[in-house]
Amino acid sequence: MYSLAPYILLLWAGLFRVAALPIRSYESSDLVALKFANVLEQLEAQFYTQALQIFNASDFEAAGFVSSQLPLQEFQRIVADESTHATTLETAILALGGQTITGCSFDFSSALTDVATMAAVARLVENVGVSAYLGALSLFSDPVLATAAASIMTVEARHQTVLNILGGATAIPQAFDVALNPSEILAIAGGFVSGCDLGISANPPLAVSSSGPFQAGSVLTFNSTAINGTIPEDELFCQILAGGLPVSISQPICECTVPQGIDGPMVVFVTNGNQSLTNDVRDAATDTIVAGPAMIFADTLQESLGQLVRPGLNSTSNSTTMGSNLTGSSVSTTSFAAPTTVTLISHLSSTSALSSSVATTSVTSGTSIVSTTTVASTAAFSSATTSTIFTGATTTTISLAQASSILASAASAAATSGG
Ligand SMILES: *[C@@H]1O[C@H](CO)[C@@H](O)[C@H](O)[C@H]1NC(C)=O
Ligand SMILES: *[C@@H]1O[C@H](CO)[C@@H](O)[C@H](O)[C@H]1NC(C)=O
Ligand SMILES: *[C@@H]1O[C@H](CO)[C@@H](O)[C@H](O)[C@H]1NC(C)=O
Ligand SMILES: *[C@@H]1O[C@H](CO)[C@@H](O)[C@H](O)[C@H]1NC(C)=O
Ligand SMILES: *[C@@H]1O[C@H](CO)[C@@H](O)[C@H](O)[C@H]1NC(C)=O
Ligand SMILES: *[C@@H]1O[C@H](CO)[C@@H](O)[C@H](O)[C@H]1NC(C)=O
Ligand SMILES: *[C@@H]1O[C@H](CO)[C@@H](O)[C@H](O)[C@H]1NC(C)=O
Repeated sequence: MYSLAPYILLLWAGLFRVAALPIRSYESSDLVALKFANVLEQLEAQFYTQALQIFNASDFEAAGFVSSQLPLQEFQRIVADESTHATTLETAILALGGQTITGCSFDFSSALTDVATMAAVARLVENVGVSAYLGALSLFSDPVLATAAASIMTVEARHQTVLNILGGATAIPQAFDVALNPSEILAIAGGFVSGCDLGISANPPLAVSSSGPFQAGSVLTFNSTAINGTIPEDELFCQILAGGLPVSISQPICECTVPQGIDGPMVVFVTNGNQSLTNDVRDAATDTIVAGPAMIFADTLQESLGQLVRPGLNSTSNSTTMGSNLTGSSVSTTSFAAPTTVTLISHLSSTSALSSSVATTSVTSGTSIVSTTTVASTAAFSSATTSTIFTGATTTTISLAQASSILASAASAAATSGG
């Protein structure tokens, strides 16, 4: 069904080959990393499997997607990848003489209440997945295993991008991702997992109790069992880390605000000193961490791609944040803008006379154009076609569903006429 089979076989062959080398002894950290990755893949596969069981096409359309096919195709593709990753990692663990962690139960009930929440949590899960693989890479003593893990990580990053787009957010918000160690990952994702011993202790979970949307200047407040008065509040600091920052931005906890100039995901820790955390899984002074991280998203930039996929999404409304627990204030609602109209303007390109055509859609909200897409063809129109369609600019207001089909036929007609 998928063209992945040869790739999987290669990966398996690679893992078996190194496993078969007689003198190579594996550090336990290799197995720790593989077993941890396997549980995360089980978690991801379960999440999408349950989501696809619960929600139907109408649910996706009601969540503002221009077509249910857009998210459904992606989710089906992603769940297939995650299942393949889980199976492949299991094979590697067994080949190295280890045992997979079994018996885990995954409870996503708080995340599967509606499609908007589910898609927001899926975006979080994929961002956390990338951070988890990045943070686990330094645990591998064997470069072949590290490379195999990295070959999964690059695919998780593709999922992350798709989920950013399905969330109506910036597809590629930062030039770098953030690595998190397994204890940090569990502070974020551990609340979904129970019934199994991961052999890794989780940092105390940190929930952001202030509600979104978050943007530069938004004040963040926190809730954690580790913020309980034992450490005086004036000794607690919030540390915000985002891709590419060399060190975290340190602020007194009572004045914690989202910094300027960061779009997309950021992780927030609470520490018991004002010393910034180094953005470095090996050397970060993790002993100062009191709780966290939590991952939040500040969607400050609007992109045409996200708008086209989910034109009804009001991205200035509530966004998602998550500590360990999705209950309470950590996930807030997503609201939708008033019905969005698409204006299709067809006109003949003035620069190339009869030799090219341009069809433009403008997604408008109220009176302002929020996104414009142009489908252009360099194919020549016959004079008959031109005189019929292009007697000057014509403007038609149509539904969103009509827009994509008109665009498609405009492009196709242009190609056909051009011969
Ligand atoms: C889709 O599921 C919703 C509940 O989530 C239900 O109300 C609706 O009837 C279903 N629609 C179809 C076409 O099955
Ligand atoms: C903090 O979390 C606890 C338990 O997780 C919850 O009972 C409490 O209501 C939360 N407080 C706030 C202010 O969100
Ligand atoms: C209270 O916070 C301290 C320090 O953060 C932590 O060590 C302790 O376990 C917390 N107490 C409870 C009951 O969670
Ligand atoms: C951090 O603490 C040191 C020592 O108390 C102080 O000199 C410094 O100004 C503080 N920095 C910040 C950013 O609060
Ligand atoms: C998560 O929420 C559930 C349900 O409200 C609660 O029972 C549990 O204690 C919470 N877990 C944490 C770590 O706050
Ligand atoms: C965000 O969601 C919360 C709770 O669902 C709600 O009280 C608040 O008004 C929302 N904020 C915005 C800006 O929509
Ligand atoms: C988006 O949501 C915000 C907050 O709820 C609201 O102020 C704004 O008017 C909404 N925008 C549109 C286009 O509906």
